[in-house]
Amino acid sequence: MQKFIIEGGHELKGEVAVGGAKNAALKFVVASMLSSEPATFTNVPDIEEVNRLLELCTFVGSEVSRDDGQVKIQTKEITNIKLDPELVKKIRVSVLLLAPILARKGEVHMPHPGGCAIGQRPIDLFIQGFEKFGVKVTENAEGYHFKTDKLRGMKFVFPLVSVTVTETLMMAATLAEGKTILKNAACEPEIPALAEYLNSCGAKISGAGTNTIEIEGVAALSGGVAKIMPDRVEAGSFAILGALCGNPIRVTNCNPEHLEALWTMFDRMGVDYKLGPDWVEVRKTDNLKAVDVVTHEYPGFITDLQQPFTVLLTQSKGMCMVHETIWEGRLFYTDKLKQMGAQIIMCDPHRVIVNGPSKLYGRKLESPDLRAGFALVLAGLVAEGTTTIENIYQIDRGYEHIEERLQKLGAKIKREE
Ligand code: EPZ
Repeated sequence: MQKFIIEGGHELKGEVAVGGAKNAALKFVVASMLSSEPATFTNVPDIEEVNRLLELCTFVGSEVSRDDGQVKIQTKEITNIKLDPELVKKIRVSVLLLAPILARKGEVHMPHPGGCAIGQRPIDLFIQGFEKFGVKVTENAEGYHFKTDKLRGMKFVFPLVSVTVTETLMMAATLAEGKTILKNAACEPEIPALAEYLNSCGAKISGAGTNTIEIEGVAALSGGVAKIMPDRVEAGSFAILGALCGNPIRVTNCNPEHLEALWTMFDRMGVDYKLGPDWVEVRKTDNLKAVDVVTHEYPGFITDLQQPFTVLLTQSKGMCMVHETIWEGRLFYTDKLKQMGAQIIMCDPHRVIVNGPSKLYGRKLESPDLRAGFALVLAGLVAEGTTTIENIYQIDRGYEHIEERLQKLGAKIKREE
């Protein structure tokens, strides 16, 4: 089991370039499987979750080649409709394969996907969406069996906003017969980017990026080429690092427009930062003012930055509330911040009160999930003394070569077996 050893209390200085967005790359790979022709994606991050998904695509019948940040994938035939339970449990996005497999084969056996630390992550909306397409869904102990002769266009009104259900139904609808309308759809920036790629392959999608998306089904899609957009969560995570210990830190290769909800929080707290067209420079700022934060679908404050942002709140003056409205399990990591000395009270699974500033001390910790893991790295970099973080596979899932990039900024962090 690998772990990070971090010696805290050092100011960090320099530039860090943001990688390709994990939560875009995963969907582009799945979208490529809607076509039997080859697709090429560049700026694909070299992270666990992408590598696991490519394994699963190969299992299903894709030919995949990877050369640094470039992925070539072609799925001439979908040859396996019984998905491997071990692979499906490893990554949440396996459920998105429902779109290409049902659109091209009309049948799939989908094992129960694993939940994870942030919530039990049901797939009821995926099932309801495909039933509206005319798919017959039956559940058994192993998982779900989906079967249909073809997908028929339909209207789906989301009872709650879901990013990957929006993406999955939008992908499936590109090859359905007739027109599909998705209402109360998610508006995350990765969704119009995915629609733009699919339209470049011959799809007819309009309204992506708004809460009403219309898709006119077509007979087939061609292959395509796309560059994956910058990872806004990684960019925001490094900007928060800058506010904690930057002297200063410049985050490059990013799109600041995708993080306006974070900049407005920085303004209210008094963070010293400057925005450029594709960079942000942030300096450690004393006497930050603590502010309440509520996570919300885009363009609200992204839940994936809640955990790193809460570390910044522990170093800010005053009492504030963190309200995690999306996930029922995404605040339990605050126990570990409390072990380090943070003053945090959990009101319920969705809300904690943070009182700051509080001095943090290095501790032995374990990373519960991807973004909490990065939050613990941030806390370790700020804390006095040495912090050990185990289970760092979770961090490798979403942050590429993270310790090397932090070392370049002057961080005292090393990976040990
Ligand atoms: C995506 O997950 C992201 N993952 C998550 O990022 C992100 O936290 C989340 O969107 C919210 O922005 C990827 O894109 C791979 P949801 P997703 O469906 O689509 C409930 C990270 O850190 N729900 O928008 O799975 C669900 O339980 C990850 O990179 C149902 O009830 O999230 C949640 O409460 C973590 N039934 C709410 O919807 C369903 O069938 C919103 O989740 C599906 C979802």
